[in-house]
Amino acid sequence: MTTTQDSTTNLAAASGSYRIGGDLPVVRLGYGTMQLPGEGVWGPPKDHDGALAVLRRAVEIGVTFFDTADSYGPEVAEDLLREALHPYADDVVIATKAGLTRQGPGVWTPVGNPAYLRQQCELSLRRLGVEQIDLFQLHRIDANVAAEDQIGELKKLQDEGKVRHIGLSEVSVEQVEEARKIATIATVQNLFNLANRTAEPVLDYCTANDIGFIPWFPLATGELSQHDGPLAAAARQHDATPSQLALAWLLKRSPVMLPIPGTKSVDHLESNTAAAGIELTDDEFEALTEAV
Ligand SMILES: NC(=O)c1ccc[n+]([C@@H]2O[C@H](COP(=O)([O-])OP(=O)(O)OC[C@H]3O[C@@H](n4cnc5c(N)ncnc54)[C@H](OP(=O)(O)O)[C@@H]3O)[C@@H](O)[C@H]2O)c1
Repeated sequence: MTTTQDSTTNLAAASGSYRIGGDLPVVRLGYGTMQLPGEGVWGPPKDHDGALAVLRRAVEIGVTFFDTADSYGPEVAEDLLREALHPYADDVVIATKAGLTRQGPGVWTPVGNPAYLRQQCELSLRRLGVEQIDLFQLHRIDANVAAEDQIGELKKLQDEGKVRHIGLSEVSVEQVEEARKIATIATVQNLFNLANRTAEPVLDYCTANDIGFIPWFPLATGELSQHDGPLAAAARQHDATPSQLALAWLLKRSPVMLPIPGTKSVDHLESNTAAAGIELTDDEFEALTEAV
């Protein structure tokens, strides 16, 4: 393993780049905004200025890919992105989502009615202060609404120029294949990390078809960061943190992998982003794959 970064500027760049939908370049190691709102992803952040500082620092250290959703807060994470980063640098790409509604802290209910998805797209355009959403992800396929109607509405929004690329979240290979009959699917966002590889068939499908794969919970919500956790011994051996090894493993796992670790701490952000500069050897990668 070698660490190629020696400064805090442009830390993320060493993770390499990926073109979402073939034409929208992002630095592969991104940032997820779900940790910024209040407890249970509900309401304003405890530390408003601290949340803005994390977002601005992310840009300073070379992060270009930001994941958010209308439902984070709700509205709070998108508002923070705009307050911190608007007008956006040319290389900043914001991926938002619609399709989950909120009834309180920690409560999420899918709603895929096409009129509702369109409303949320319009509101995200307004909140983010953009004329087109870079990547609009269906947060969940609502089992009570025909999938083709949900994907079809996203396709209409794309045809109207309101959305550049379409993504899906928490889907099976079969669901991606069905959706691709209706629209071009640029990304899939599923739960995936070193400790939970249930989505491996979807990742392999995405790799084979050049669809961006955005693993959520890349640190298993902090479990993989613990200094007495499953990565601790290997991390000590390599003078890295457990979180950094978990992220370096993801980056090596597939060229379409776009990890979006979340944090409300500038220190954790810098440390996580520095994982871009950690290159695991094939043997180290295999050892981690076996160990966890
Ligand atoms: N599509 C979906 O359904 C879905 C679902 C969940 C999440 N997401 C997206 O995926 C992103 C990532 O998921 P996530 O934020 O829930 O989980 P995560 O990135 O796996 O872990 C975040 C947790 O780890 C802690 N952490 C982060 N860096 C750390 C470090 N270096 N050392 C110690 N602890 C650290 C954070 O606490 P601190 O704040 O204290 O650092 C936080 O509790 C979200 O932000 C969101 O954008 C999508």
